[in-house]
This record gives sequence, structure tokens and C-alpha cells, in this order.
Amino acid sequence: MNILILGGGGREHALAWACMQNPKCDKLIVAPGNAGIARIAECARLDIEDGSAVTGFAEENAMDFVIIGPEAPLAAGVGDALRAAGFTVFGPSQAAARLEASKAFTKEICDAAGAPTASWARFTQAEPARAHIRKTGAPIVVKADGLAAGKGVIVAMDEETALAAIDDMFGGEFGAAGAEVVIEEFMEGEEASFFVLCDGENALPMGTAQDHKRAFDGDEGPNTGGMGAYSPAPVLTQTLQDQVMDRIIRPTLAEMARRGTPYQGVLYAGLMIRDGAARLVEYNCRFGDPECQPLMLRLGAQALDLLQATAEGRLDDAQVNWAEDHAMTVVMAARGYPGAYEKGTEIRGLPDLPESSFAMCFHAGTRREDRRILANGGRVLNLTARGATLQEARDRAYEMVAAVDWPEGFNRSDIGWRVLG
Ligand code: AMP
Ligand code: GLY
Repeated sequence: MNILILGGGGREHALAWACMQNPKCDKLIVAPGNAGIARIAECARLDIEDGSAVTGFAEENAMDFVIIGPEAPLAAGVGDALRAAGFTVFGPSQAAARLEASKAFTKEICDAAGAPTASWARFTQAEPARAHIRKTGAPIVVKADGLAAGKGVIVAMDEETALAAIDDMFGGEFGAAGAEVVIEEFMEGEEASFFVLCDGENALPMGTAQDHKRAFDGDEGPNTGGMGAYSPAPVLTQTLQDQVMDRIIRPTLAEMARRGTPYQGVLYAGLMIRDGAARLVEYNCRFGDPECQPLMLRLGAQALDLLQATAEGRLDDAQVNWAEDHAMTVVMAARGYPGAYEKGTEIRGLPDLPESSFAMCFHAGTRREDRRILANGGRVLNLTARGATLQEARDRAYEMVAAVDWPEGFNRSDIGWRVLG
């Protein structure tokens, strides 16, 4: 089977690595890829948000299966263009990707499905939004409706911050994404990520993970795309997973199907857990990054079979065979991230890192220049390891971090603190 993966982050390196473990994979191309992916697959330059360009590329290269990693091509309808041309695709249609691309749409679906989530209101004008904030008071959460690369959510602990967020959003800071604003009740609790494979009819819980969104130790500092993750997340007990499937996931999928836009791909539910009950924070229409990395290391070769069964509508007789193990990813990012950071600094020590089904360095923002590996983004490396216990996985992951020689990078030193202290 010839496989094309769209994307070039740590998530796509992990997906590419898992595909390569499976003997079914004859040829693998990743667009645009990165320096780590280039060591295991062919990387191609391609505008991955342009449906006709991607379809043309897939035809020219005789691809059989296309896996779409990030949300932007999904929201742009690249999956629809590929399917219309006859390709088997992992990832939802543009209409179904609205579960990530529009926060107000997700809230409407939750209401129609009776899925528990924060109470909410939507606004297209600043003054009524301000009045709502003054009436409700803080803490309160202000969200740009559209895709804003993870930056469109302001968790405001005081009214002033919430009002300033309204000014920013209607002032154009988030472009078209901020033309509509959703204001939500602030939910307290512990967050976890739940991944469910959906083939339009059947839903298969695939795995759980916990991300670390803040930049610094102790969950301090600004929100980032995610500084580390581990899987499984013990907070998502089997009982809680069953509850989430019954009350949130299945009703959502039924509502999407009822509207004529069934969901196919991975549905990533961000959950807030408190007092033994879960509420939905948000949906994403793709794997989490970095959550995908520990999931893929644990799944290995079977990941490709599962993604293919999802795309082909065969999840009714699929199952996930989990080992009784744990995996952790520690992200190394460029100093300054998520604010301004330098690109082009050299990373040394990578050739000495282990490469096995127990320990992998998945690359995110890297590029190769001659024989050197240079940082090329905010989040740059994902040191990922498996172990019989989470402590073992953590020890291995941090051993790899210590072996990386990159003075211009930084990482959190407390990934997994909720479980390990
Ligand atoms: P999102 O971009 O929607 O994932 O939101 C980013 C982060 O904001 C989430 O991971 C939560 O930590 C936080 N967040 C979003 N909505 C709420 C809410 N209603 N209550 C508390 N925290 C929230
Ligand atoms: N790690 C959070 C996300 O992928 O949205």
C-alpha cells in the first residue's frame, strides 16, 4: 500500500513511524514532513490546504491511502476533494470538521445531542458580549469561533481580562476566526484527552492521554500547543470512558449523521472531569499533538490497520490491542515559545538517541542543512518513551532529553506530575 500523510509536526512523524512498522506499507510520502520524517519516508513540497493540488499529487504518485494530520486541510475540504477522486482517506469531511472549525457549531450540536458541556452564548457584536460578561462575572471563558491555531481561547479569571479579549477579538486580532465569539461558563476540574475512531456508523474508543498546555513547570506561564503528554490517562477510568461514550460521543455522532454529515476519522474529545463526571471542553477533528506521539508508540503497527478500518467503514469488527504499558512524550521547544523565538539554531546529540519501539525522538519543527539539524519552529522535538510503568517511561524520556545538546531549547521537567508527583 502506498500511503500519503499530510502534515509536518511531531504528530505526523509518529503517524509515519507507526505506518512504517506495518508490513502493509510499501511506500510512504509525507508532505511537507520535517528532518526526522525525512529519515524514514520521502518528503514532498505541496500546498496541503489545496484540494486539487493534493489530489493531483496523490494521482501522480499512485497513492492508495491518504492520512490527514492537521485540522487546516480538513477544514479546507481536502478530504472531500480526495474522496471525490476515489481515494481512501482518513479524516472527516469539511462539513464534519466544523466540530473543530466552529466553536458555536459544536455547542449547537452538544445542545441538540444533550451532551454535557459548559453553558454558553454567542455574539457577533462587542457591546452585547461586554454586557453578558458584566452580568455573568468572572471567571469566564471567551473564544473566537473559528480556527485560531490554538490561540483563540482566553480563560479570564477576572472581568477586565474577559472584556479585553472581546476588544481584541472584535478588533480583528484573530481575523475572520473572531467575527463571532462564544462566551462560556468556566469549568473547573482535571482535563484529559479521549480519542475515538469513527467510521460514520461505528465508534471505537482508541485511547486516552493527558496533555500539559502551559509553557512552564507547575502549569505556569502561557498556554501552548502542548508541552508533553502521556498515555493512558488514569483519570479516564473505564467507567468514565463508558459514560463519555454514552452521554457525549454517541449522541454527537448520531446528531452529525442525522444532519447528513456523518463523522469519519478520529474524534478527539477534550474533557473536563470533576466529581466522577465528564463534560466536553471542545472537539478536535484530528489527533492531538503531542498526545498522538505516546499513543502511536504504544500502538505500533496496528495503528495503520485501525486508521484504514476507520476510512473503509470497517470498525464494527476492529479492536484495539493495548499492551499493559505507558508512554510519555516530553516536548523540547525553542526558547521564547509560544511567543517570539529564534529559528535556525543547531541541535546536536540526535544521532546518539535510541530508536526502537520503546524510545523514539519524533521531530516537529526541524530542518536539515548539510549534515546539521536545525530548529525550524516553536515546538521542535518530542522525546517519547514507553515503559511498564509511567515512571519508567518518564525516566527513559528524560534520559533522551538530557542527551540532546541544544542550548537554545527548553522543556518542562514535570511531565506526568498529576500521576507521579
Ligand atoms: P481549546 O483551544 O478550546 O482547547 O481551549 C484551550 C484550553 O482552554 C482548554 O484546553 C482548557 O484548558 C481551557 N478551556 C476552554 N474552555 C474552557 C472552559 N469552558 N472552562 C475552563 N477551561 C476552558
Ligand atoms: N495538544 C492539544 C491539541 O492538539 O489540540
